Parts: sequence; structure tokens; C-alpha cells
Amino acid sequence: MKFGIIGAGNVGATIAHILLFKNYGDIYLLDIAEDIAKGKAIDLNQSKFLFNSEYSVKGGNDYLEIKDADFIIITAGLARKPGMSRDDLLFKNFEILKDICIKIKEFKKEPFIIVVSNPLDIMAYTAYKILGFSKSKILGMAGVLDSYRFMHFIQNTFETKTTKIEAMTLGSHGDTMVPLTSKVRVDGELLISKILPEKIKEIEEKTKNGGAEIVNLLKSGSAYYAPAAAVVRMIDAIVNDENIVLPCSVYAEGEYGINDIFIGLPALLNKNGFERVEILDISQDEKNKLLNSANSIKEQINKINNKI
Ligand code: NAI
Ligand code: 2OP
Repeated sequence: MKFGIIGAGNVGATIAHILLFKNYGDIYLLDIAEDIAKGKAIDLNQSKFLFNSEYSVKGGNDYLEIKDADFIIITAGLARKPGMSRDDLLFKNFEILKDICIKIKEFKKEPFIIVVSNPLDIMAYTAYKILGFSKSKILGMAGVLDSYRFMHFIQNTFETKTTKIEAMTLGSHGDTMVPLTSKVRVDGELLISKILPEKIKEIEEKTKNGGAEIVNLLKSGSAYYAPAAAVVRMIDAIVNDENIVLPCSVYAEGEYGINDIFIGLPALLNKNGFERVEILDISQDEKNKLLNSANSIKEQINKINNKI
């Protein structure tokens, strides 16, 4: 297989490192900062002896190198700075995404596209509308990351080492994110039967602020280890034809009463990419929050729709 990663920054390079470790295929790191992409590719190649990887990483700014890629992961753009909301990035990253997608559209092949750049749901929508690919080929990564954060805060609250935590977030990768508390299980038991509602509220708030907490500590740049791991989890599901439900930003066509936007929904992933949305039995409160989240994404989309 071949992977094109657009944006050789923190997230892009970390994805490349994990993919190299997984031994899935050759990787091309593409960045407007050509030398950074080249330098990171050399560095990554020199690490592959630990992994016994038979594949290699190249770097540069040449789109012809990824014309036959099976997966293109878009991480190009600006990252959040302290005090900057994800939505502040909207117009700048929209122009970057648009430019990238116009170039990818020239390729004969329709690769799987995983969008990472923020604001995530709007950037995934932009890619879908500009590329014109089947909706099964275009996914936004956020829900897997936000669910990992949700699991992390649940694990911390219980002071447990168990990794048997089932937790999922839906909705936007933003302030209106919807942690699905009613469905969380820890060691098989429902979370709502185990802790006080105030504690649950606290976990939900920490999850929503999970990205901002890291931004504030790093001072420059945002999270990348868990985001990269979350992208590779989605690639795993497709490459290994897992038929697994993961929360991903996908194109909604009526599911949960939502239409014509990208939003975090439970998506069945297999070798075809995004097969369909799974309808989960969630609470009325969660359904309302999901619709509220959809409205906030719609508002953002309206700001860029006439520029697509
Ligand atoms: P970074 O600043 O480390 O890397 C971004 C890279 O994009 C830079 O190397 C830059 O030169 C490159 N770039 C900018 N314009 C480009 C263009 N037109 N073509 C090719 N490359 C271009 O940022 P980082 O930390 O890697 O984050 C990347 C993006 O992913 C940001 O928008 C960030 O907010 C987002 N993000 C989203 C997450 C999610 O859950 N969806 C999680 C983490 C980050
Ligand atoms: C995050 O949640 C910045 O969206 C990025 O870490």
C-alpha cells in the first residue's frame, strides 16, 4: 500500500512513524515546507531498523508522488494557539484544504481520504464537496481521539488501570461535542450506575476541553500523539476489513435527523471505507445535544459554502 500524508508537521510525522511501525506500506510526507518534509523523512527512515520495516518514507512537495496512494491523510494547516478557538482557524485552513483537494482531484485514482485539519467537521465537508468522491471514501478524524480522551478521564476518575472502557463521543470536534455517557461501560458495568451525576458532568467537561488543556500547556502547537494514534486506528479498521463501528466525522444523509453536513457519528468501517451510520439507542438528551451540535456545524459551513 501507499500512504500520502499532506502536512509533515507534528500530527503528520507522528502518523508516519506509527505507520512505519505497522509495516503497512510506503509513505510520502508532503509539505509546502519541502525541506522539513525531506528532513523528517530521512529521520523516520533511520528509525525503521527498530521496527524491521520493509517500507520507507520519502518527503517533499510533489503531488505526483501521491497520485497512486491508497490513503491520503490531510493534516496540513495551522494548529491552534493558546486562546485561539478551533473556529478561528476556519477561513485560513479552508483555503489550504481547498487548494489541496483541487490537486488531489486531478488524480485518476480515488484514495481513501482522512481529514485531520481543523475545524475538523467543516474541513471534512470541504474535502467531500470539492473532491466529489463517494461519501464512503471521505472520513474526518476526531471522534476516535475524543473517545480516547473520554476513556482517559474515566480511567483517571476511577483510579483504575483497566482498559476495558467502552466510551464514545459523537457530534462536532468542538464545544458542542456529545460524550455518550448513557452508553459508557467500565469493566462491563454501566458508568451511570457507578458514579454521581456531578462526577459524570466533570468527566464530560474534561473531555470537551481535552484538546485545549494540552494547547495551554504546550504554549505552541497542539496534541499529536493521540491524534496520530486515532488516525491509525481508522486506517487499521479499513485495511483489516474490521466491520467495526468507530465514531468518525462522516457525511450525514438523514441519520439521527441530520442532513448534508459532516459530523461525528457511529460509522461502520470496513474495506470499503465508511459503509453506513449505525443507529444507536441513545437518550433523548443525547439526541437533542447531537442536533444542537449539527446546528453549530451548519452555521460554520454557511460561512464557507459560497467559497467552495
Ligand atoms: P503543525 O503546525 O505541526 O503542522 C502543519 C503542517 O502543515 C506544517 O508543517 C505546514 O508547513 C503544513 N502546511 C501548511 N499549509 C500547507 C499546504 N498548503 N500544503 C501542505 N502543507 C501545508 O500542526 P499539527 O499539530 O500537525 O496539526 C495539523 C492540523 O491538524 C491542525 O489544523 C490542527 O488543528 C489539526 N488537528 C486536528 C485534530 C483532530 O482531532 N481532528 C487533532 C490534532 C490536530
Ligand atoms: C485537539 O483536539 C487541536 O483539535 C485538536 O487536540
